Amino acid sequence: KTNKNGKPEKRETFSTSLAVFFATLGSAVGLGNIWKFPYMTGMNGGGAFILVYLFFVLLIGIPIMLSEFYLGRKTRSNVVGVFDKLKASRFWKLIGYFGLLSAMLIMFFYSTVAGWVYSYVFKALRGDFRSLSSMGLAEAKAAAEKAFETTAGGTYEPMVWQFVAVFVVAAILLGGVKKGIERVTKTLMPLLLTLIVICAVRALTLSGAGEGVAFLMKADFSKLSAASVLAAMGLAFFKLSLGMGTMVTYGSYFNKENNLIGTSFQVAISDTLVSLLAGLAVFPVVFTFNLAPEGGPGLLFATIPLVFSLLPLGNLLLVLFFLLTAIAATTAMISMVEVPVVIFMEELKVPRKKAVLLITGLMFVIGVLTTHPQSLFGGVTIAGKSLFDLFDYLSSNILMPLGGLLITLFVAYFVKKNELIREMTNNGHLKTAGLVTLLQFVLKFVTPLLLIIVFLNALGILKL
Ligand code: PFF
Repeated sequence: KTNKNGKPEKRETFSTSLAVFFATLGSAVGLGNIWKFPYMTGMNGGGAFILVYLFFVLLIGIPIMLSEFYLGRKTRSNVVGVFDKLKASRFWKLIGYFGLLSAMLIMFFYSTVAGWVYSYVFKALRGDFRSLSSMGLAEAKAAAEKAFETTAGGTYEPMVWQFVAVFVVAAILLGGVKKGIERVTKTLMPLLLTLIVICAVRALTLSGAGEGVAFLMKADFSKLSAASVLAAMGLAFFKLSLGMGTMVTYGSYFNKENNLIGTSFQVAISDTLVSLLAGLAVFPVVFTFNLAPEGGPGLLFATIPLVFSLLPLGNLLLVLFFLLTAIAATTAMISMVEVPVVIFMEELKVPRKKAVLLITGLMFVIGVLTTHPQSLFGGVTIAGKSLFDLFDYLSSNILMPLGGLLITLFVAYFVKKNELIREMTNNGHLKTAGLVTLLQFVLKFVTPLLLIIVFLNALGILKL
C-alpha cells in the first residue's frame, strides 16, 4: 500500500506508553466491571469467587494478553493477517475468524445495554428519578422497575438509544488510531477513574458499608460450583477483552519502546481495581436501604437509580455514575469494533470509512432485530436462552476461551524462545528475559491445561 508520494503507507501507532495504557485499559474496563463483576461476585461466594477470578487472571489472562500483544506488535497486522505474516498454516486463521464472530456477537447485546446506559445519563440529567425520593420505598421500587421496563422494553426507545451508542463508536473510529482511539481514551479514562473513586468513597461512608463490603468480599466457598468456576474464567476473558484478537489489534498499534509485560500487569491490576470499586460503589448503598442485592441488569438499571436517589445530592451522583458507565461502555466498544474494521481494511482493502460504516451498520441492524424483547426475533429462545443471553454465553464461555486456547498453543509451540525473548524485551533493552522463560513455560503447560480442565468440568465430562 502506498501513500500519495509513492512511499509505503505507515500504519498508525499510539504515541506514548501512557496512550497505550489508557487505550488498553479503556478496552478492558467496560460494562463487565459495572454490570457483570459485582453481581457475579456477590452471587458466587464473594471473596471465594474473587480468588478464583484472580487465579485465572494470573495464569490465563495475563499470559494470553501477552501472547496477543506479541502477535500484534511483531506483525503489525490484523488478527487474520497475523498468520500470513508469520507464514503459519491457514488453520490458525481460524483464530481471526472466531474473533470476528465474537466481536459481532458481543456488539449485538453490548450496544443494547450501552444504549440503556446512555438513555439513563439523559434521564438522570433531566431529573426523571428525582421523584423517587419522595415516595415510600415499595412505591419507589415499583417506579424504578417501571422506568427500566420502558427503557428496555419499549418499541422505539431502546432502538434509538442503541443507534446513538453505535453511532458514537462509529464517529470515534472514523478518526483512526491516534485522532480517534488514542485521543478519546486519553481524555475519558482519567475522568472515569476519578468518577468511580468519588462514587465508591460516597458509598463507603454510609451505614450499610460494612454489610455491602462483606457481601462483595467475604469468602463463601460453599457457593462455588463448577458453573461458577467456568463463569469466573469466562469473566476473565470478557473483562480483559481476550481470545478474540482485540489485544492483537491494539498490540499492533503499540510503539517499539512499550514494555509489553509491564503493560499487561498494569492493565490487569487497574481493571480489577475498577471492578472492586464498582462493587464498593453499589453494595453499601443497596444494603443501607435494606434491599436485596439483585442479580443481572436489574441491579444497574432499577436498584441503582432507586438507592442513589435516596441519598442527599443523589441525582448528581446518579448522573456521575451513569456517565462513568457510559464512558466505560464506549471505550470498550471501540476496541471491539476495531477488530473487524482492521480485518476489512487490510484483508479486503476496504477504506477505513467504508469499513466502519459497514460494520457498525450491520451490528446495529442485527442487534436491533435480536436483542430487544419487542423486536422481530426478540422472543426467540434457543436451549432455554434468549438470543441476548445466547450471544453472551457463546462469546464469553465458548468462543473467547477457545480462541484463547488456540492463541496460547500457537505462541507456546510455534514461536521460538529467542524470538519471544527478543520481542518481549524490546531487543534486549529490558531485563525481563527470565520472565519470558517463565511465560513460555506457563503458556506451554499451565494455561492450556487449565482451559481444558475448566471446559471438561463444565461439560460434565470431568468431575472435580
Ligand atoms: N472488556 C469489556 C468489559 O469488561 O466490559 C468487554 C469487551 C471489550 C470484550 C472488548 C471484548 C472486547 F473485545
